[in-house]
Amino acid sequence: MKKLKILITGGAGYLGSMLTTKLVDIGYYVTVIDILEFNKTSLSHLFVKNNFKFIKGDVRDKKLMTKQLKKNNIIIPLAALVGAPLCEKYPRKTFDINYNCIKFILSKIKSSQKIIYPNTNSGYGIGKKNKFCDEKSPLNPISLYGRTKVEAEKIILKHRNSIVFRLATVFGYSYRMRTDLLVNFLVNMAIRNKKITIFEPHFRRNYIHVIDVAYAFIFAIENFNRMKGNIYNVGLSNANLTKIQLAKRITKNIKGIKINLLKNKKDPDKRDYFVSNKKIEKLGFKTSVSIDDGIVELKNIFNIFNFKKNKNNY
Ligand SMILES: NC(=O)c1ccc[n+]([C@@H]2O[C@H](COP(=O)([O-])OP(=O)(O)OC[C@H]3O[C@@H](n4cnc5c(N)ncnc54)[C@H](O)[C@@H]3O)[C@@H](O)[C@H]2O)c1
Repeated sequence: MKKLKILITGGAGYLGSMLTTKLVDIGYYVTVIDILEFNKTSLSHLFVKNNFKFIKGDVRDKKLMTKQLKKNNIIIPLAALVGAPLCEKYPRKTFDINYNCIKFILSKIKSSQKIIYPNTNSGYGIGKKNKFCDEKSPLNPISLYGRTKVEAEKIILKHRNSIVFRLATVFGYSYRMRTDLLVNFLVNMAIRNKKITIFEPHFRRNYIHVIDVAYAFIFAIENFNRMKGNIYNVGLSNANLTKIQLAKRITKNIKGIKINLLKNKKDPDKRDYFVSNKKIEKLGFKTSVSIDDGIVELKNIFNIFNFKKNKNNY
């Protein structure tokens, strides 16, 4: 059993439930604080493990957070309102959870405690068509969601022992499922409607499987000293795909699906860029699930389950 103690806020979410499961399996002592806003059972399979503790609580509860922050070596703050539509609906709450709570965590932890933070890379290339982005490229988010994440990233980086990930669009099955993320959304649409409808087909972005996001966090924990103080893009380097290329990959893997192009509809999400993931790859990080394997996984799952959209989610 490894001795490190890890606190994950929002650990019952899409990324968190996968990451927590992997860390508990490896043998870390993991405490999760989550209000269980969405899936209530995404971590139920871990309650039998004696290196796992779940606290149903709110990251805005300063007393709870102060107590738990003292007990852990590594903090992974995932709790957030996620995605532009949800954040526009609850702006005050978004600012509190996505920014103020991060500020509070930083005010309470010692410089020796470690923090690993996930940002989104969605602000790269806003207004800069076909740009190739690395970690030096500025993020210019247009949504409240993106802005709170970027502001939180800035204060995180002032902490000596910090690592920031800028994640590509995540895909794949997780214990708390999200069907709003582009690959998951289009595969679900293909299975349900036997066609894929897309607009602004030449908008390009980068993708990463949720398991590989979990592996990236584990890689950061295990290589902390040589990674700290830095930002890393995390995505599949062979999957900088336009929407139409992605749609074609889906039709290659699922037979009998038509692609329907909407000519006049505009995408509010303006990202259109190639992302370089070389910085983390040079340190030895390797991804494990290709876009095609992820599409097949999602096809098999959506053929069996029909995930209902959560009204508070997106
Ligand atoms: N999924 C992606 O594509 C992606 C990409 C980049 C960055 N991120 C970041 O990763 C993190 C997790 O995203 P996700 O996709 O897993 O989202 P998610 O919505 O599935 O998970 C968020 C979790 O936080 C919990 N939560 C929300 N408010 C809380 C509060 N006040 N107190 C305690 N728990 C609270 C929710 O119950 C949920 O379980 C977020 O910080 C997000 O910005 C996600």
